[in-house]
Amino acid sequence: MGSLTPHDWREDRYSFLRWRVLPDPAWSEWWDRIHIDVGIKRRLRAHANFSLRHRSEYSPVGLPLHGIALLHGPPGTGKSSLVRGLANVVAQDMLADGFSDQLIFAEIDPHALPSQMLGESQRNTLNLLEKAIPELADKGYPLICGIDEINSLATSRLLTTGGRDPIDVMRATDAVLRGLDYLAASHPNVYIVGTSNFVASLDDALFDRLDVAFEIPLPDVEQISMILSDTFSEFPVVKIDVEELSSLATAMVGRSGRDIRKLVLEAVVTRDALPDEPLTADDLFEVIQ
Ligand SMILES: Nc1ncnc2c1ncn2[C@@H]1O[C@H](COP(=O)(O)OP(=O)(O)OP(=O)(O)O)[C@@H](O)[C@H]1O
Ligand SMILES: [Mg+2]
Repeated sequence: MGSLTPHDWREDRYSFLRWRVLPDPAWSEWWDRIHIDVGIKRRLRAHANFSLRHRSEYSPVGLPLHGIALLHGPPGTGKSSLVRGLANVVAQDMLADGFSDQLIFAEIDPHALPSQMLGESQRNTLNLLEKAIPELADKGYPLICGIDEINSLATSRLLTTGGRDPIDVMRATDAVLRGLDYLAASHPNVYIVGTSNFVASLDDALFDRLDVAFEIPLPDVEQISMILSDTFSEFPVVKIDVEELSSLATAMVGRSGRDIRKLVLEAVVTRDALPDEPLTADDLFEVIQ
């Protein structure tokens, strides 16, 4: 197999999908700098590696796997970042084990897919699942596809549908399920990782096709401390000791990782100090209030 040129995003014929080649050392931070439960990280990585290497060896009746995982939880908890990070670590694992020297990572833009127009939703999702993804998979490398807001693809047929024609939603969801079954059966080298804020709106039949679902909750005190320290490393001078860090973390319980990083920026930008003066815990307490 020839090598694909790494490190740039590409878009083929489909505006809703872009892809690139991994591993890329610059992408390690999408994994290493997202601080969640280490057990979840380990299991997610193990599932993806297992599925991409071994799914084809199992009977679809004996072990009905679809090669689909879900990360769900509140906004800003690192789900989309982890999908990228996962693709990169799995690419590293495969390179290290001699399984494959490259992995393709594709990102789907969920907003480019569904459409209000009758009939168009099905066409788009079928294009995605029966053409765009299989074409990429046919390059012969392991393929990880990140689908953000996967519930926008297959919304529960039982929920009301905010202005969309319920018949169209129902047909679109059926198209997704059919497409996923087709992909699962024909392309064992594909692993889909969906993200969602609102798991209750996922169609039951889609939920049933997930091999695994991980909840990514808001960070706990220890994780908040890690996120804070990690964010501080972006700035040249920070003067915050261990005790202050711990009280800051406690004061930030209930906030997402995204929020926490933005609070640090807010403190840096708005504090009343010269740029070379160190950032202090007081600067941060000021913006938390
Ligand atoms: N657990 C975390 N550890 C460290 N940084 C985090 C964490 N969660 C979020 N962040 C920061 O917030 C950024 C945005 O997170 P991301 O977009 O991955 O969240 P998300 O869960 O996909 O959010 P949404 O549900 O709104 O799509 C990350 O790139 C990172 O800088
Ligand atoms: Mg996201």
